[in-house]
Amino acid sequence: MIFATLLLLAPVAIHASPLANAATACLSSASVPQIQSTDSSWSRTIKPFNLRLPYTPIAVAYPTTVPQVQAAVLCGAQLNLTVTPKSGGHSYASHGLGGEDGHLVIDMRQFKEVTVDKTTQIATVGVGARLGNVAQSLYSQGQRAFSHGTCPGVGVGGHVVGGGYGYSSRTKGLASDALVEAEIVLANGTFTTASATNNPELFWALRGAGSSFGVITRMKFQTFAAPTNNIVFSYGLNVNAQSMKNAFAVLQDYANSTAMPAEMNMRVFINRGSVSLMGVFYGTQSAFQTAISPVLSKIGNPGGQVQQKGWIDALTGYAYMSLSTPLDYDVHETFFSKSLMTERLDDTAMTAFWNYWYNTARANSRDWYLIVDLHGGQSSAITKLGQDYSSYAHRKALIKYEFYDRVNSGSYPSNGLSFLNGWVDTITNSMKSTQFGMYINYADPTLSTTQAQNSYWLGNYAKLANIKKEVDPANLFSNPQAVGRVQV
Ligand SMILES: Cc1cc2nc3c(=O)[nH]c(=O)nc-3n(C[C@H](O)[C@H](O)[C@H](O)COP(=O)(O)OP(=O)(O)OC[C@H]3O[C@@H](n4cnc5c(N)ncnc54)[C@H](O)[C@@H]3O)c2cc1C
Ligand SMILES: *[C@@H]1O[C@H](CO)[C@@H](O)[C@H](O)[C@H]1NC(C)=O
Ligand SMILES: *[C@@H]1O[C@H](CO)[C@@H](O)[C@H](O)[C@H]1NC(C)=O
Ligand SMILES: *[C@@H]1O[C@H](CO)[C@@H](O)[C@H](O)[C@H]1NC(C)=O
Repeated sequence: MIFATLLLLAPVAIHASPLANAATACLSSASVPQIQSTDSSWSRTIKPFNLRLPYTPIAVAYPTTVPQVQAAVLCGAQLNLTVTPKSGGHSYASHGLGGEDGHLVIDMRQFKEVTVDKTTQIATVGVGARLGNVAQSLYSQGQRAFSHGTCPGVGVGGHVVGGGYGYSSRTKGLASDALVEAEIVLANGTFTTASATNNPELFWALRGAGSSFGVITRMKFQTFAAPTNNIVFSYGLNVNAQSMKNAFAVLQDYANSTAMPAEMNMRVFINRGSVSLMGVFYGTQSAFQTAISPVLSKIGNPGGQVQQKGWIDALTGYAYMSLSTPLDYDVHETFFSKSLMTERLDDTAMTAFWNYWYNTARANSRDWYLIVDLHGGQSSAITKLGQDYSSYAHRKALIKYEFYDRVNSGSYPSNGLSFLNGWVDTITNSMKSTQFGMYINYADPTLSTTQAQNSYWLGNYAKLANIKKEVDPANLFSNPQAVGRVQV
């Protein structure tokens, strides 16, 4: 804490290293706008979404044009710095700041236009645009949409390069599945595009591991007509460990059966006080009843709420806040999070998992939650695209888990990590021969470099490492969990 205080009182002394001065001078002489440690907006600029993980960049470029991004990348290369693009700054591991001190951060916030081509219905989106603003803008330009996550403040850049999962992903695929082209500045300063026809291997890499390959400036997405019938549902599960395990077994079977249509998007949301089954179905009320009834009848027909909403209303409901996000959006939490992507859990794993919830998690008074998404299965658009579609490695995962443990004031306890680690261990220790996947958009900074590379990218890692050697042999774009980073 003493160190933090010094940082606040003496930013000039801390940042006036010869290398920092050289970075600032290089950016200035190339006319790249920057935010400097002496500027009043500096501390807010480098304030991470996850306050548990603050890092200090050596310099922050704040470009508005592609040539400025190119110049910033070349400054980084010239000075042998590590360069990190930041879009919405929502990385759970503060990877938008580099995940460690000393990076040249390229803050892409000002690349935020959203335009829809009326003929092709392809949207061009600046990487700094936030998901809520993107959704509103697409809707206002002809009621268009693409599939993406629920939090309106998340930046499209970081979201899409990790995959991008949300309440229409089972129906329409991941956000990155809708990507048809990325405009990108490479490590040698070249500005180019990646698509199915231009730089196809790079395009494959960008959709799942894109934070290690360059600075994407704009993305083009194939949009769809926003659904008009959005059936939003929530059922309360009033349960014990045994009944929850049974319900989970039902959901696991359902996720991989044709009884669960692609139009059904569903999750179990658990916190200290409640367990609910919630989601969105795209279609009529009666089609919804047909689709949900096999689940409800097997879990004791719980009471719930079913509403029909419009697209924007449904998104707003799940955002739990306004979709409109200002440029200087300033929301933060203090937390530790982990993820797991699983195929079929066996009986031992399910028992251990739900016992941990019942006995350990419910006794933890911090503001934790767990989201269990029915991600894959036979009818899921994510699974259907097939294992080779992009570097996103989890197409076969039936279920996606996001474990999130936060404090609402003060600092996160130093012994806190064991709570979620222990919960994940209930599965991994029960099924020791399985290599479980993890989702980089819920980056877990406690994983070693090698663990992270193996669990984020599974069997795709070797191919990613080869592409990395081609386009960024000097590891200009890197962080402690990036493709190509060598474990120390
Ligand atoms: C409240 C909240 C809710 C969330 N909900 C969801 C959800 O529903 N579904 C889901 O899938 N995820 C969700 N996430 C996770 C989110 O998708 C990731 O944290 C994502 O990486 C954030 O992107 P960003 O641009 O905001 O972050 P940043 O921290 O700016 O970037 C994240 C990573 O992407 C890289 N990157 C950023 N911009 C670029 C670029 N232009 N070119 C290349 N690399 C780039 C960064 O270097 C960094 O490694 C949520 C996160 C939060 C905090
Ligand atoms: C650049 O930095 C890396 C590690 O940070 C070091 O191994 C390498 O020798 C440096 N190269 C130059 C030209 O300074
Ligand atoms: C899902 O069903 C398909 C088709 O029956 C099968 O091949 C696959 O192994 C199943 N996946 C899981 C995780 O059970
Ligand atoms: C920059 O790197 C890319 C990817 O490796 C390569 O195709 C291109 O030829 C390089 N450009 C220059 C000018 O060296």
